[in-house]
Amino acid sequence: MSLREDAWTDLARRLADRLEADGALHTPAWKSAVAATPRHELVPTFYRQTPEHYEWESVDTATPEGLDAAYSPTTLVTSLDERDHPLSSSTKPDLIVSMLELLDVHDQHRVLAVGTGSGYTTALLCHRLGDRNVCSVDIDPALVEAARDRLASIGHHPTLACRDGADGLPEHAPYDRIIATCSVPRVPWPWADQLAAGSTVLVNVMPAAINAGGLALLHHSGDRLEGRFAGQWASFMGMRSADSTAPTEHRPPDTGNSRSRTTATPPTPWWDNTVVWLLAQFHGLPAGVTIGMRLDPDTAQPAAATMTAPDGSAADITLTASGDGRHEVTETGPTPLWEPVEHAHRTWLTHGKPEWPRLGITATAHHQWLWMDHPDSAVHWPL
Ligand SMILES: C[S@@+](CC[C@H](N)C(=O)[O-])C[C@H]1O[C@@H](n2cnc3c(N)ncnc32)[C@H](O)[C@@H]1O
Repeated sequence: MSLREDAWTDLARRLADRLEADGALHTPAWKSAVAATPRHELVPTFYRQTPEHYEWESVDTATPEGLDAAYSPTTLVTSLDERDHPLSSSTKPDLIVSMLELLDVHDQHRVLAVGTGSGYTTALLCHRLGDRNVCSVDIDPALVEAARDRLASIGHHPTLACRDGADGLPEHAPYDRIIATCSVPRVPWPWADQLAAGSTVLVNVMPAAINAGGLALLHHSGDRLEGRFAGQWASFMGMRSADSTAPTEHRPPDTGNSRSRTTATPPTPWWDNTVVWLLAQFHGLPAGVTIGMRLDPDTAQPAAATMTAPDGSAADITLTASGDGRHEVTETGPTPLWEPVEHAHRTWLTHGKPEWPRLGITATAHHQWLWMDHPDSAVHWPL
């Protein structure tokens, strides 16, 4: 179904107004990019989960409902693997414009966008900088080809390539800015060699656990990339390699050896205190931990936060505290999962409850570390 031009232009303009009113967008150049970009053309269909059974269903953005979603600050899942895990999505426009503003792009800058996905971020960059200054890579060839065709259909012809974004795109370097919309456990060092003097990288660094990371704004100076985390938090899907698309296998829960105790640490750091959740990874939280909720069988309301590790270990922390302010913790399996979070919470309290901008990253050719307050701080952890 083709759409009348004024139907989407009106919606795109309203989206730009909404992002501005919500405080996500402050600059006229990005506002006009949002207002001029037909997101529904770049995302002709997306997947959403049904409320009853969390099954994925596809939605066409030519339908009124799909069109509304395309022009709302919502992430739209655009590709699923054979196990129904999302492989790609069109990032929510409010987050993308906040990131583009943080990136501090200037006229004539050359930008590499890692994680082309639907091409929406690339389209905004093309509008702002012109096609010849924009390059983008994605590891998925089908996504790159689809984005190439759709971007061309709306008049953009950036340089696109199917690559592992960890390698950058050296043949079109140097870049003044690199923005990645997939997360990385460490900053890919090949990027440093592809950056012009005085350039900047914006990337979601997430060492090992889901949601446990932030947006690092790193400046290239001398032999290093260095900078702080932004106040704006984000959690992108992880950067995958061409041969590792499968998520980590989890052993069945180890139900023996159940240990119960209480904790004063609030139970959902992955939502309520993402700095503590990041720090937990440096206090012994194993890689590949997944998080969830246990529902109360009577009310069907969330009763406990849950964590599971690939080795079958699990933790269950009640959401409601008892009269003394403590939550019940039940752990099973060989690895204590809640202890690293408690330890990280104590570290966070000891250092005056730091927010994201007190933390930063330094990356050199051989070492990367996360620090608190300044790069030479005694409070630091190797990445
Ligand atoms: C959240 S989506 C990007 C969304 C995109 N910014 C947009 O506006 O549509 C993340 C993308 O990163 C891609 N990706 C994952 N691993 C990658 C890698 N190693 N190199 C390049 N792209 C990768 C995925 O295929 C996916 O399309």
